[in-house]
Amino acid sequence: MEDKIHEEISQFLEAFETERGQGFDCQRLVQNAISNIVCSIIFGKRFEYSDPLFVQFLKAIGEVLAIIGAASVADMLPIVRFLPGDLFKFKKAKQNSDTIISLLIEPMIKEHLQNHDGDNVDDFIHAYIKEMRFRKEKEVETKLDLENLVMVIRDLFVGGTETTSTTIRWILVYLLSNPDVQEKCFQEIKEHIGQSRRPTMKDKTNLPYVEATIREALRLSDIIPTSLPHAVPHDVQFRGYTFPKGVQVIVMLDSVLQDPDVWGDPESFRPDRFLDDSGKIIKKEEFIPFSLGRRVCLGESMARMELFLFLTTMIQRFKFVPVDGQMPSLDGLIGITHSPRPFVMKAIQRI
Ligand code: HEM
Repeated sequence: MEDKIHEEISQFLEAFETERGQGFDCQRLVQNAISNIVCSIIFGKRFEYSDPLFVQFLKAIGEVLAIIGAASVADMLPIVRFLPGDLFKFKKAKQNSDTIISLLIEPMIKEHLQNHDGDNVDDFIHAYIKEMRFRKEKEVETKLDLENLVMVIRDLFVGGTETTSTTIRWILVYLLSNPDVQEKCFQEIKEHIGQSRRPTMKDKTNLPYVEATIREALRLSDIIPTSLPHAVPHDVQFRGYTFPKGVQVIVMLDSVLQDPDVWGDPESFRPDRFLDDSGKIIKKEEFIPFSLGRRVCLGESMARMELFLFLTTMIQRFKFVPVDGQMPSLDGLIGITHSPRPFVMKAIQRI
């Protein structure tokens, strides 16, 4: 996975360099790179950022995500589906989701089924097909079928693209607003890695301040404040309340990530809160941006790897500064994720 991330980072940095230190909005570039990593893990191939299929696919995903916030009304009140028109854009979201499936996911699965070689499994679809066929042969009862494969791929895209790319953009917002933090990260990278070789996951233990900065950004940006909806499997008694079987429960992650009793000054961006007196990372059990329990984010380790490698490589190569002293807003936008408002910055090459 690390190799695939590195491959993408190289393309991403090249694209960054073409901005030649001018003010630009990096949103599209970050989304392209993060989506491409999911593509290379699932499909075994990455796309050129200008590939028309990739552009169409990202546009459809972007629209689905933008709409989901409003369409979730239909989740709570399914009856609104039958209203004339498309007030909550539920139909538009469904149409876009169908486009993603017919345009990219189904043709990719078809191609993989035709070329499948069980001894040569190098991406998620081949791994799934291998396991699906194995279970069928052994007559084991299984939910691994092609219909589910389509849904799993769609979930991985929805879960794995917007989340990580939004976090990278939040980190940039905080670095722009806190130049001292950016400088400290750079000095740590310079001391332990230098500027001539690329950072790897092996460097992580030597870069506690960078790691603390990532954790603090994940805590403060709180990109999925309501986690995902769950339902209780049986009647549950909790603090004098009864949650009847099947009732939907929405967990407020921000009630923990921003709890003043835990963090003291939760509204400040202060990476040091994750470091002890000797500069080592402190593990805090209230640090739960990926949620908790059996349904904890399944992409957590991948996301952490992406964040570490992107951030260290970006800071190693560029200094990020605001355009004409204009700081990005710290007030985010609430959709399916809590994301930064569009902002421009300059990426000035350090080497
Ligand atoms: C910074 C990045 C990310 C954050 C903050 C994040 C956060 C979360 C949260 C809060 C949940 C809800 C867990 C629950 O239901 O209690 C979740 C679920 C999920 N995430 Fe992530 N995520 C990130 C990246 C990723 C990536 C990279 C992938 C995959 C490639 C991914 C795939 C998923 C999936 C499939 C679920 C549903 C899991 C299930 O229902 O069992 N996420 N994530």
